[in-house]
Amino acid sequence: MTPAHAYQHGGSPEKDMARLGVSERPVTDFSVNLNPLGRPPLLRERWMELWDRVEGYPSVEGEGVARYYEAKFGIPSGRFLAGNGSTELIYLIPRVLRLGRAAVISPSYHDYERACLLAGTRVIHLPLASNSGFSPPDPNQVERVLASVDAVWLGRPNNPTASLLARTVLLDLADRFPDKWFIVDEAFIQFLEDWKEESLLLESPRPNLVVIHSLTKFYAVAGLRLGGAVADERVIERLRHAKEPWTVNGVADRAAALLAESGGFDEQTRSHVGAEVKRVFSRLEALEGITPFPSPVNYLLCQWVRTDDLDDLLRHLLGRGVYVRDCRNFAGLERGYFRVGLRAPRENDRLLECLASACGRFP
Ligand SMILES: Cc1ncc(COP(=O)(O)O)c(C=O)c1O
Repeated sequence: MTPAHAYQHGGSPEKDMARLGVSERPVTDFSVNLNPLGRPPLLRERWMELWDRVEGYPSVEGEGVARYYEAKFGIPSGRFLAGNGSTELIYLIPRVLRLGRAAVISPSYHDYERACLLAGTRVIHLPLASNSGFSPPDPNQVERVLASVDAVWLGRPNNPTASLLARTVLLDLADRFPDKWFIVDEAFIQFLEDWKEESLLLESPRPNLVVIHSLTKFYAVAGLRLGGAVADERVIERLRHAKEPWTVNGVADRAAALLAESGGFDEQTRSHVGAEVKRVFSRLEALEGITPFPSPVNYLLCQWVRTDDLDDLLRHLLGRGVYVRDCRNFAGLERGYFRVGLRAPRENDRLLECLASACGRFP
């Protein structure tokens, strides 16, 4: 059995083709969940400004990234710490806060648990129920688990279920339990059409609330490694004290400062994703054999129910050059779950066609 702290990530099309006996071919990859519009054109247009940043040392703490968060969310630099992607903060937080026991929503992004285990934090699972569509835990459930932990980790929206615990519920819990940590990952929040009403990034700070955020997904810049944490000044100071210097490279740091000027692209993304996710969801709902779960963002969790083996579907799709994220390695998603990240509408149509033909093939 794989230990819980072993590193897990999405599959690879080559490995899955070999495993399923499909001859190797190029695939359209729906397993990633980046912005379907791709990178902002601004980055290409001003690429030479990034080149200029290669030679010298960058700012020690990613000043350009801090500038992005100040410009977009009004967060003063004393309440923000940049990292080499949000992953750096996910791993730093349990170490610095010295969490003894933490609750992690299950299923959710694997690194919360791994980061806790590597920091010596014991992990309690807070399971979401499939029969309630993986809806967020209700406040009573969170309250019960809080009695035995120092912290609770939550994704808003959660990856891969896309469920979103209401902002007011979370803030109420944080206010009522001031001696517990609430560690909230908002890596996908900017995709929401009403993100300003939903995001905790815009909230006044709470001493027990840490919000993790990433620029990876929204700007499709996974290779740059951009993200950070937002919290009360004293918490940021503790994190800053323990963090290695220069983890944000100069190219990423300059790119973040440029992204602060990307307002038009941000709006275009939200209106595109908002309309496309509704369209794809309603087409998926019409398929007999696939159960999609509602999502306000750029990816959808689905369950294959036509046969009792997800490999039947994966083999069919790979044979047509389509790759989706097999979610069976998430606790609670072992029975036929997969995730699709939105791509261009024409590609999404091709995915829908292939899913429809899979449903037709297994009567
Ligand atoms: C929910 C969630 N949070 C955080 C991350 C880490 O992103 P990054 O380190 O690129 O900021 C990911 C990446 O897949 C993710 O899905």
